[in-house]
Amino acid sequence: MATERRNPNLLPLILLSFIAIASAKVIFEERFEDGWEGRWVKSDWKKDENMAGEWNYTSGKWTGDTDDKGIQTSEDYRFYAISAEFPEFSNKDKTLVFQFSVKHEQKLDCGGGYMKLLSGEVDQKKFGGDTPYSIMFGPDICGYSTKKVHAILTYKGTNKLIKKDVPCETDQLTHVYTFILHPDATYSILIDNVEKQTGSLYSDWDLLPAKKIKDPEAKKPEDWDDKEYIPDPEDKKPEGYDDIPKEIPDADAKKPEDWDDEEDGEWTPPTIANPEYKGPWNPKKIKNPNYKGKWKAPMIDNPDFKDDPDLYVFPSLKYVGIELWQVKSGTLFDNVLICDDPEYAKKVAEETWGKLKDAEKAAFDEAEKKKEEEESKDDPIDSDAEDEDDGDDAEGDDAEDKSDNKDVLDSVDEDVHDEL
Ligand SMILES: *[C@@H]1O[C@H](CO)[C@@H](O)[C@H](O)[C@H]1NC(C)=O
Repeated sequence: MATERRNPNLLPLILLSFIAIASAKVIFEERFEDGWEGRWVKSDWKKDENMAGEWNYTSGKWTGDTDDKGIQTSEDYRFYAISAEFPEFSNKDKTLVFQFSVKHEQKLDCGGGYMKLLSGEVDQKKFGGDTPYSIMFGPDICGYSTKKVHAILTYKGTNKLIKKDVPCETDQLTHVYTFILHPDATYSILIDNVEKQTGSLYSDWDLLPAKKIKDPEAKKPEDWDDKEYIPDPEDKKPEGYDDIPKEIPDADAKKPEDWDDEEDGEWTPPTIANPEYKGPWNPKKIKNPNYKGKWKAPMIDNPDFKDDPDLYVFPSLKYVGIELWQVKSGTLFDNVLICDDPEYAKKVAEETWGKLKDAEKAAFDEAEKKKEEEESKDDPIDSDAEDEDDGDDAEGDDAEDKSDNKDVLDSVDEDVHDEL
C-alpha cells in the first residue's frame, strides 16, 4: 500500500478499479460474521426423524485466521438444510455471479459441497431435498467415480445437469467455486479464480431441443462404399497351407517304464501345439480404393427447435440455501456471494480465500505433522516390539506398557469403525 501511494502512475488505475467496483450490484453477501444467524433459517427438515445435522460456527481445525468463521457440518450420517433470503432479483439483461467457498476438512468419501439458488416463495422452515430450486452449483464427491462440479439449471420445471465434465478439488483445503451466467447465455465455472469450463447454455445443457438434427429422410446411397479395408484380391493361399496340422506328437515324450501295452493299451505320445501352424488362411487386407468415408446424414434445422431468448433468465431469485446429505461431516461453507459483476467476485475471492490460503496450508501441514507424530507414537506394532526387546524389564514398566497398549488397541478399534 505504502509504495502504491508513492507511485503516482498507479493512482488512475486504483481509481478505475474503484469505479468498476462501485458499479457492481451485490444482491447477497455473507461472510458469516456477527449477526449471521439472524439472516439464515435452519430448516426443520428431517428433524422429526432425528436425522437433521447441527451446524458448527467455526473457522475449522486449520485456518489462516481463527476469527474468520463459516458454518460447518458437524454430525455424520445427517441431512443439512439452511437458507437465507435476499431481495427478489431477476438476472434478465444482467450477469449473474454465484460464488462461495467450501472446505472439506474430513477426508470426504461421499458427500456434497454445493449450494442452491431458489425462486419465488419458499417456506424456509420446510426447505429440504424436495424443495424446487433454480440453480444448484458446487462440488460433489462420491467414491472414485464422482468428483465433479455440479451445475444444474432448472428449466420449465426440469433439472438439467451440465453435460461437460468439470472436476472438483478433492483436498482438505478451502476452495472458491464461482458460477457466472451472462445475458448472451454463455457461462463460466471458476475454481479459485481460475476458469475451468466455459461455453453456452445452448450446447452444454439440454435445455432446448437441438437447433440442428440429422435429416431423418436422408438415406445412404446404394453405391456408397464405406469399407475402409478389403481383402487383397491378389493374395493367394500358399500351396500346402492347409496340410500343416494344428497339433503334432511330442517328440520328447517317452513311454513310461511301467507302461503295460496289454493292460494300458498301445502307448501314443501326447500331442503339442505345432509351431508351424498359423491358423486358417486369410488374405491380406488392403486399403479400399473406392472407400468414400463413413456416411453421415446431412444436418437440417430441427423443426421442434424454438429459440428462447430468455433461456438464461431466472426472473425471481430470492433465496440461497445449502441442502446436503453427509455420510462424513466436516464441510465448511463461507463467503457466499451473489452479484452481477465477475470482477467484484474475483476481488472478494482474493480478499478472503486468496489472502488466507498460504497460512491455511501451513496450518494444515502442521496439523498433519502432529497427527503423524501421534500416530507413530501410538503405533501398537512398535510397542509390541518394545515389549519383546525389553523382556527382562522391571515388572512395573511392563504393566505400564500393557495398559498403554490397551488404550492404543481401543483407539485402533475406533478407527476401524470409522473406516466402516
Ligand atoms: C466445532 O469446530 C471446532 C473446530 O474444529 C471443534 O473444536 C469443535 O469440537 C466443533 N464443535 C462441534 C459441536 O462439533
